[in-house]
Amino acid sequence: MLTEKKILVGVTGGIAAYKAAEVVRCLRKLNAQVHVAMTKSATEFITPLTLQSLSSNPVYCDLFDEPKLWNVEHIALAEHVDAVIIAPATANILAKMAMGLADDFLSTVLLATRAPIFVAPAMNHAMYHHPATQVNLALLKERGIQVIGPDTGFQACGTNGDGRMSEPVEIAESLVRFFTGSDWLKGKKALVTAGGTQEPLDPVRYLGNRSSGLMGYAIAEALQEAGAETFLVSAPTDLPTPYGVTRISVRTALEMHDAVLRLFPEMNVVVKAAAVADYRPLVEAVQKIKKTGTSLTLELVPNPDILAELGQKKTSQLLIGFAAETENLMANAQHKMKQKNVNLLVANDITKPGAGFGSPTNIVSFLFPDGRKIDLPQMSKLEVARHLTREIAKLLGVETKE
Ligand code: CTP
Repeated sequence: MLTEKKILVGVTGGIAAYKAAEVVRCLRKLNAQVHVAMTKSATEFITPLTLQSLSSNPVYCDLFDEPKLWNVEHIALAEHVDAVIIAPATANILAKMAMGLADDFLSTVLLATRAPIFVAPAMNHAMYHHPATQVNLALLKERGIQVIGPDTGFQACGTNGDGRMSEPVEIAESLVRFFTGSDWLKGKKALVTAGGTQEPLDPVRYLGNRSSGLMGYAIAEALQEAGAETFLVSAPTDLPTPYGVTRISVRTALEMHDAVLRLFPEMNVVVKAAAVADYRPLVEAVQKIKKTGTSLTLELVPNPDILAELGQKKTSQLLIGFAAETENLMANAQHKMKQKNVNLLVANDITKPGAGFGSPTNIVSFLFPDGRKIDLPQMSKLEVARHLTREIAKLLGVETKE
């Protein structure tokens, strides 16, 4: 999500400096190029070597160090980066920024850069509430500096209160939202199901399907990117959990049913991209089923239709279903939309080249109960997911700046 973005992480001297390592790691995971500048006090809390190893770049501490990459380094770095995030930001650096002081490497870069600046304050609650700090923060906000947090909670000094640095994941997400320009779904909760369920036959075998989970994972990523708090109920896949998303791993249709129904009441949006087994073996053999040389008949019993049940139970939730079809795509999809009472149905001919299970791309149509239909050309599953996210935002009545 931050590919090709060059981000300077400024680390100042507070106990939360140890969390800067996680901030750097989160940004790297999002493919950002990360540079780090530390104040002298910050190096008392965490070593430059740690941040150098995590960022894969030299760390800047002193204005008068030997140059590492550029000639006038603080100016070159100031011009080179796309954004600066100070995490943690002490009361001292906020005061220096407000006054325009430049007496070390980091504060000099902050004065020289025209890149957007984010600060994640971290300090004792009394220092945070001191009028000087509050005035400085107000002034910085007025100048367009974005303040992330702070959070409330247990503090290193042993008290409870405001002043804890926001979690590294939240800090990274603020940057993602800034660069992707969409926080349409901020404050909303979204649930996505993904992958193909597995229905055990015996300790070594199961009935499964060819779903890779790619489409559902891309949708979770796009919803998270748009600011929704996103939960992913996933059948087994080989895919990494999208950044910032909470994953709940399940195996069978019944497990998926239970996980989804538990989360459903507090959700604003549910997208059912999973390929759920319609049947499961009546019995799961305790021991491995032995071959006998003759034919074997399995008795299967129906699984619950999770989406149809949600369609019955829904109150204010927006419900999105999928239709994976191999024939009569539109007729079957229209039927599923009505039968399952969904607000949007993604119709998907899984036999088309470039579409369906395991393919990195997809070719889908969005169907709406009012008869509208949007046909999308072949595109990556993440692009499909971003289109779907935009439609979800519209259905929720959110301005999508089109
Ligand atoms: N679905 C579900 N629970 C099931 C079966 C399907 O929640 N037991 C959901 C899927 O996640 C998808 C939609 O229902 O969003 C349609 O799934 P699909 O497999 O296309 O259709 P089915 O309803 O299973 O019908 P059929 O297999 O007869 O095509």
